[in-house]
Amino acid sequence: MATRTDFGPPDYRQMLPPIITKNYGQWKYHERLQPGLLMHVAESGDALYTIRVGSERLLSTDKVREMCDLAEKYCDGYLRFTSRHNVEFLCSDKARVDPLIAELKAKGWPVGGTGHSITNIVHTQGWIHCHTPATDASAVVKSVMDELYQYFGTMDLPGYCRISLACCLNMCGAVHCSDIAILGMHRMVPKINHDIVRTKCELPNVIAACPTGAIRPDPANKSLTVNPDRCMYCGNCYTMCPGMTVADPIGDGISIWVGGKVSNSRSGPAFSRLVVPFLPNNPPRWPETVEVVKMLVETWAKHARKHERMGEWIERIGWERFFEITGLPFTEQMIDDFTMAPETFRTTAAFKW
Ligand code: HEM
Ligand code: HEM
Ligand code: SF4
Ligand code: SF4
Repeated sequence: MATRTDFGPPDYRQMLPPIITKNYGQWKYHERLQPGLLMHVAESGDALYTIRVGSERLLSTDKVREMCDLAEKYCDGYLRFTSRHNVEFLCSDKARVDPLIAELKAKGWPVGGTGHSITNIVHTQGWIHCHTPATDASAVVKSVMDELYQYFGTMDLPGYCRISLACCLNMCGAVHCSDIAILGMHRMVPKINHDIVRTKCELPNVIAACPTGAIRPDPANKSLTVNPDRCMYCGNCYTMCPGMTVADPIGDGISIWVGGKVSNSRSGPAFSRLVVPFLPNNPPRWPETVEVVKMLVETWAKHARKHERMGEWIERIGWERFFEITGLPFTEQMIDDFTMAPETFRTTAAFKW
């Protein structure tokens, strides 16, 4: 046991269900019995049933209590939250699985998100909490997921389709490695409020925070200047100093990226690539973003082979053909060979049409 400290998460071993402690490191196989239900079987013959339910990222204490009550009733109190904001009830008694699913469905909680489904969209804080967002998180996800809901409780897609959202380039979401990524973009040079910069900010820290060296001292004003030609609108300076406002109602919006994934048994990891450079923030339902994401899912589902993920499908048919099939406009931002990017560097002049 690690030394006890007053920070960081508690030791996970204190919270494992007894069946996992008992069979630790000795799990033999797992199966997806039905959408939202996994069975893990150990060498000893013990079986653990996992019931997965989609949840909001931001939960009320009342809802967490309700979840805990269900876990007490059916799973000896054991449940876990996944990295995609799903909740999993860990049930070691087979007889309790169906009653639990029945009660979850009666509550209207979505059971699913396993296997070849569209599981919950992993996302960031958005307007509700963070200080640098270029778009909202929960509201965009809710709007998109409402349209894709049918794919949550079924496993009929060709393969996994992981969707993620990050509300700025800091990217607390997994937008670099998701099949479809929704990414908030700033497009304006920070507007400097000299009074705030002078009174509230450590100027050398703000200058050092800029990755492109766009910020210079302005000794006459005891403030700073930004060179617009060098600025890439990342918002780092705003993180250091509230006088460098980067958010802008018209400039800010959403970009869409596709084809990222973590490695699996068939192919290595891949980075997401830009396919739509800008969509406006259009609350409360973000229709432009919803339309593009839905179109991407449905086009991929129609054309991909079994097990083929978005990026693998695009690799097979070719980057140019992807734009042709989806009807998305191809612009210079999507040229897939920029220096410093050996992973996506086009090594042949042959186009795949
Ligand atoms: C022999 C032991 C195990 C093997 C070989 C195994 C293998 C796998 C594989 C291949 C996946 C799919 C990964 C992907 O492509 O996303 C997976 C997913 C998963 N496994 Fe296991 N697993 C084992 C034990 C466990 C145990 C004991 C648990 C928890 C009690 C667990 C929980 C999960 C979860 C939550 C997922 C994600 C499923 C999804 O996103 O659809 N696994 N596992
Ligand atoms: C050895 C270290 C790591 C392991 C074993 C690991 C394992 C996993 C697994 C099994 C999942 C799938 C969970 C699910 O489907 O519910 C996952 C998802 C994820 N991981 Fe990690 N991870 C590691 C390191 C990291 C690091 C360093 C980051 C961030 C920089 C990260 C960020 C994420 C994100 C954002 C997701 C959700 C993405 C998705 O499901 O497509 N992980 N990780
Ligand atoms: S992605 Fe950016 S804006 Fe969104 S929560 Fe993270 S740091 Fe904040
Ligand atoms: S937004 Fe980023 S690139 Fe632009 S000045 Fe600030 S830190 Fe530098």
